[in-house]
Amino acid sequence: MIWRLAASAARLLPPEAAHIAAVRTLQANIGPRPDVPSLPVSLAGLDLANPLGVAAGFDKNAACYKGAMGLGFGHVEVGTITPLAQPGNPKPRVFRLPQDAAVINRYGFNSLGMEVAAANLARIRDYAGILGVNVGANKTSANPTEDYRVAVARLACFADYVTLNISSPNTPGLRDLQTSEHLASLLEAARTGMQEAGVARPIFLKIAPDLEQADLELIVDHCVSAGVDGIIATNTTISRPDSLRDRHAMQNGGLSGQPLFNMATDVLARIAQLGKGRIAIIGVGGVAHGWQAYAKILVGADLVQLYSGLALDGPLIASRILHELAALLQKDGVRTVAAVRGTIPDAKAAITHAFRCAQTD
Ligand SMILES: Cc1cc2nc3c(=O)[nH]c(=O)nc-3n(C[C@H](O)[C@H](O)[C@H](O)COP(=O)(O)O)c2cc1C
Repeated sequence: MIWRLAASAARLLPPEAAHIAAVRTLQANIGPRPDVPSLPVSLAGLDLANPLGVAAGFDKNAACYKGAMGLGFGHVEVGTITPLAQPGNPKPRVFRLPQDAAVINRYGFNSLGMEVAAANLARIRDYAGILGVNVGANKTSANPTEDYRVAVARLACFADYVTLNISSPNTPGLRDLQTSEHLASLLEAARTGMQEAGVARPIFLKIAPDLEQADLELIVDHCVSAGVDGIIATNTTISRPDSLRDRHAMQNGGLSGQPLFNMATDVLARIAQLGKGRIAIIGVGGVAHGWQAYAKILVGADLVQLYSGLALDGPLIASRILHELAALLQKDGVRTVAAVRGTIPDAKAAITHAFRCAQTD
């Protein structure tokens, strides 16, 4: 009850102030400590207690991942961390769209830089979960590819996996790294960074939902041949669906939350089909209910992440979704996430099945 009230109170604050308050609260290790069902999953050599994690952007400077894991999430992806500190875009730069259960942000990689993140990561080691470190390029970098090498070299030793974020819409030119011309050298730079770090951690690539089929084919091909371990689909969208009603709908930036769910799940399904089991897949975009996590698993996700749901619903969301997910697995007569993963490759069919399953008693 108290955490529901706390979540309602946070909604009275401007969104960025609420975000900072949430990070500080979790940093102080204050928060609900719910029991969550055990739903173990494995991918890319990692063993996780459950498939649900916090997506990048919430714990940008690796300050509160231990507290966030305590909410029941099986993993937390910190970042995006850039090599050098940078302020990000002018405020206001994040907007709630309550009428659409959505968020628009144009933070622009506000980051305290990799040295502050490294100090935090070195200090907080007694956490229970899998830790992802998401890295990106500085806005004014003369050589963005080189930024990924530098950040991976500095931070990989603290991570269970590393994500290359090349899909934020808020850093000019960043998404060009998703093209054939740049992808090979980006992946090569990340490999070099990993060697310099002297560790071998899985590397994931995070992509945008606004890509054409030909781009997706190219990305999956490159990733498979370069030995990338996983693809995270998706980041926020620059599109604005006609369904949006909120007064903030036309703010510049990336849209996330409910209006992204179908689009991101469709991209995920197409990646799963192209990947043919050769690469791990992490589904993110519009997850706020167990059936939505379930739909992403049905099309082939190994893991599911969320951010907007946490921002809009509050800290009990992990426990609610995981209990709902466990109930859905039971209704479908299976005991493990692996037993259903990829069993309905078509996004529409998977969403329909998951939704109907959630409606039946
Ligand atoms: C306020 C905000 C900030 C974000 N910052 C980042 C970021 O720094 N790096 C990143 O890879 N994704 C970032 N994202 C994208 C999320 O990680 C996620 O991919 C996207 O929001 C879709 O998931 P959701 O609908 O559950 O929010 C951000 C999203 C939001 C809402």
